[in-house]
Amino acid sequence: MAFEKEINKRRTFAIISHPDAGKTTLTEKLLLFGGAIHVAGAVKSNKIKKTATSDFMEIEKQRGISVATSVMGFEYNDKKINILDTPGHKDFAEDTYRTLTAVDSVIIVIDVAKGVEEQTKKLAKVCRMRNTPVMVFVNKMDRDGKDAFELLDEIESLLSISVRPLTWPIGMGKKFKGVYNIYNQNMRLFEPDQEKVKEAISFDNISDPEIETYIGDEEAEILREEIELVEAVYPKFNLELYKKAEVAPVFFGSALYNFGVQETIDTFVEIAPSPRNSETAEREIIPYEDKFSGFVFKIHANMDPNHRDRIAFVKICSGKFKRNTNYLHIRNNKQMKFPNPTSFMAEKKEIVDEAFPGDIIGLYDSGNFKIGDSLTEGEILHFSGIPSFSPEMFRYIENGDPMKFKQLQKGVDQLMDEGVAQLFINKFNGRRIIGTVGALQFEVIEYRLKHEYGATCKYEPIQLYKACWFTSSNSEQLEDFKKRKYQNLAKDKFNRDVFLAESSFALQMAQQNFPDISFHFTSEF
Ligand code: G4P
Repeated sequence: MAFEKEINKRRTFAIISHPDAGKTTLTEKLLLFGGAIHVAGAVKSNKIKKTATSDFMEIEKQRGISVATSVMGFEYNDKKINILDTPGHKDFAEDTYRTLTAVDSVIIVIDVAKGVEEQTKKLAKVCRMRNTPVMVFVNKMDRDGKDAFELLDEIESLLSISVRPLTWPIGMGKKFKGVYNIYNQNMRLFEPDQEKVKEAISFDNISDPEIETYIGDEEAEILREEIELVEAVYPKFNLELYKKAEVAPVFFGSALYNFGVQETIDTFVEIAPSPRNSETAEREIIPYEDKFSGFVFKIHANMDPNHRDRIAFVKICSGKFKRNTNYLHIRNNKQMKFPNPTSFMAEKKEIVDEAFPGDIIGLYDSGNFKIGDSLTEGEILHFSGIPSFSPEMFRYIENGDPMKFKQLQKGVDQLMDEGVAQLFINKFNGRRIIGTVGALQFEVIEYRLKHEYGATCKYEPIQLYKACWFTSSNSEQLEDFKKRKYQNLAKDKFNRDVFLAESSFALQMAQQNFPDISFHFTSEF
């Protein structure tokens, strides 16, 4: 019973947004409400920004973008909250995609003025693929922005999900008066105070004449009309549909001014799903199973610049994880035990004796783990849904310092295991090609090779459009394809065949000329 209770109280989620919509600010406010950090106010100072984003890497400090993904855990209303932070920069989107494999729900932050932006669309698509339940927080209501109804339509059409507002804004920008909580029939008035949160004022219903005394006659009339329209247009909130990822509850507020955040977190802990089942190639895993299982979704290097050890982030999918207990590392077919597994409570790391499904633990790793690796009590399981995406930017990588060849080799291998980029070996000329989803990764690799491995790399340009995996049940056609395209073939880190298409035309022609070959754009097929 106690075991089930532990699982049911866990809420593991990520906050995602297009850069600048307010993800960091909202995260900080949630941490404040959860008592995980204690500095109230508009958390503008970099100090707190750092604790909230947990930038472990030197490079992140230099660039001021969140390269790393971290975990922040805290207790709130008897629930154990685990927020998985995701990098905002688009070049690190793949990091974010992988993090989304480890969450049970997400909160999407949207800037009221900018509406649904590019990165939000992409991330929401990944959530849809995985049927991850989604909540929306429309931020920056203290600024002028889009009309609420218009914005809801935009969310529905661009994110392909039905919405259901659970709070409603009273005005916006300079005329922002507060938020009406449709769910609880109460209202919180807005005061541009970054530190305090006003008490909510409750009403019997939306017709209560008291409302006028707080927000004025005109605003009260508009509010009633709008709430009436909301009730007429949007079906009643259905919890089951939310858990099936078919409807997204929407909240309005201003993270900077601490506004609407309380409503969001209170509703979140009430309705967000506890750990869900996980898919493996072998069978579905239910969190309540006795035996422990989990997978690595993220590897972090350079936590301590003096040591080169890494931390593998493991999502616990079933059973109880125990310290100093032997578990099977499936890929290596090796028993391993972990004397110092860490949990992440806000900015603190602590050694834990046990952890439950929904939790993320950090395991010190000297190079045994790759993204996607499974740990179990002995059962052979391969967790699915942690794909690599076919990269779109390519460079040859060469050794820049003949004395440091080994260091380069090791550095490149380890960075690839971490999922920073993908390495392909050209079958024709044996040259090594780095493929990434963003240009910034090339700089990250160069920087990290130098600072963590003492190696120097040189890049050389290569004209490539896409690298994609291919399979076919027509072995004759497959052989013919390999023969004719032998200059454009490579192997990935798992020794699988990859086609290096020089242009979209070349890819199209290959698809046309070899109709029995399937080309795959993610590594899971
Ligand atoms: P991100 O993580 O999604 O990239 O966004 P972040 O929270 O860093 O917020 C981006 C900018 O938007 C920040 O301002 C932040 O203060 C501001 N912001 C966040 N929420 C609100 C809000 O509710 N209202 C208003 N008016 N602004 C908001 P900045 O000047 O770019 O950065 P900083 O110097 O404040 O850190």
